[in-house]
Amino acid sequence: MSDESHASPQSTAPHLTAAVIPAAGRGVRLGPGAPKALRALSGLPMLIHAVRAMAASRGVSLVVVVAPPDGAVEVKNLLDEHALPETTDYVVVPGGDTRQESVRAGLDALPPGITEVLVHDAARPLVPVDTVDAVIEAVRGGAPAVVPALPLADTVKQVEPATESGAPEPVVATPERALLRAVQTPQGFDLATLIRAHEQVALNGEGATDDAGMVEQLGVQVVVVPGHEEAFKVTRPLDLVLAEAVLARRRANDGF
Ligand code: C5P
Repeated sequence: MSDESHASPQSTAPHLTAAVIPAAGRGVRLGPGAPKALRALSGLPMLIHAVRAMAASRGVSLVVVVAPPDGAVEVKNLLDEHALPETTDYVVVPGGDTRQESVRAGLDALPPGITEVLVHDAARPLVPVDTVDAVIEAVRGGAPAVVPALPLADTVKQVEPATESGAPEPVVATPERALLRAVQTPQGFDLATLIRAHEQVALNGEGATDDAGMVEQLGVQVVVVPGHEEAFKVTRPLDLVLAEAVLARRRANDGF
């Protein structure tokens, strides 16, 4: 670990980037079964794909996996079984009731010397390394918060949520589609900025679904870099079919 005691913002102190992977969700929308991060994709748990996707970047020196609270030992065993590149260390910590609490547990586990952090959903197992590298480069270039994002295919409507299930919902507004982006992970942060966001932005209800949103609430500028269609989130059963197709295409391409 580097000694940051003499560092100034302009110093050439080494950058050390860790990736926190919240993987403690149950994945209810995917249907019954194991916690989402432990469901298999091409025979490997989704989480292993996600960890490898982070470790594939030479910029990532540590991966912190936030496991389901009762599954930390199982997850640690899985990671031990599926070797990572020698340059990447990993630790496993138990998660919390909300994604925000799980990310906080991951941040609490970071050792001294880390300067930037990526937060990456285990549910986005197929993000390409170029996207990871682009986020790291933007943060190291001085942006305190960076999110990969894509333009939307669908038009989005804001509605007044129905009080009875199945009742038609009145449309309140139609935001201009060209100004909207669907954000993905890994989201990258100057570590001190993200820690400040977790300390100062209140937890309420489900908590934040997006770390960059918490940083926005601090009044800090968040910027977007191009995302990738393969960084989609595996949420519903059809996403598993798509993920298997992406992996099959990669295997076929590797064969040539
Ligand atoms: O539920 P959602 O798809 O938004 O979850 C995004 C990511 O946050 C997933 O990788 C999930 O495992 C993680 N999560 C968590 N702890 C929770 C809830 C979600 O680590 N309590």
